[in-house]
Amino acid sequence: MQRALTLHQTTIGKKVVMALSGLVIVGFVIGHFLGNLNLYRGQEALDAYAHFLQGLTPVLWGTRLLLLFAFGAHIVAAFSLWSRNIKARGSRYKKHQDMATDYAARTMYWSGPILLLFVVYHLLHFTILPAHPGEVYRNVVEGFQNPWIAGVYITGNIALGFHIFHGIFSATQTLGVNHPRYNAYRRDAAIAISAAITLGNLSFPISVLAGFVTL
Ligand code: HEM
Repeated sequence: MQRALTLHQTTIGKKVVMALSGLVIVGFVIGHFLGNLNLYRGQEALDAYAHFLQGLTPVLWGTRLLLLFAFGAHIVAAFSLWSRNIKARGSRYKKHQDMATDYAARTMYWSGPILLLFVVYHLLHFTILPAHPGEVYRNVVEGFQNPWIAGVYITGNIALGFHIFHGIFSATQTLGVNHPRYNAYRRDAAIAISAAITLGNLSFPISVLAGFVTL
């Protein structure tokens, strides 16, 4: 007898999980970027902002749990869609007609793993093993003065830009905004949001490397 499938076991269900968890993560990334703008207001402002957030213990841990859950669901659903896709193709080496969705999916499959590595590095660098605990401004500026570390952040944030551009575009499609009249706006919105976040985030390591932000 055929077992009833729960929503998250179907392809569309997995895409809904990807879309909703992705939107939670993008929401965090926008808030995180806006908070990081305190770097330009100087050492006191950034450190005071970080200490303020650390003082909001329930909010901090609530956000961490939500993010952990969103990242976990996003990665598990991505892996499952990817393996389903490979099986459906028969042989992954067989030549097949490339479609627009294939192009988007391919972008996600290189930018996703780069981003995952970046986030693990980023957490170790600033949150788990910071060079100077409690001195967020000093950790950021000293970190980005090293061109290799700045390079890791630049690479990670370029991958982030591609990933959220395609992510926002496909998430809005999965969640039902797919109509010829709105598709151009969906694309423009995805470009505007991903470009703003990417250029903003890239400005941090570049400003330090260029000497605009110093200790
Ligand atoms: C150049 C861009 C970025 C800068 C300058 C930056 C800076 C920072 C800093 C300084 C912290 C530590 C804050 C503290 O200890 O109080 C932090 C934490 C964090 N960042 Fe970033 N970040 C950047 C990009 C990103 C991106 C793209 C993501 C995710 C895709 C991300 C995810 C996180 C997470 C999850 C934490 C840990 C928050 C916590 O639980 O304490 N960051 N970031």
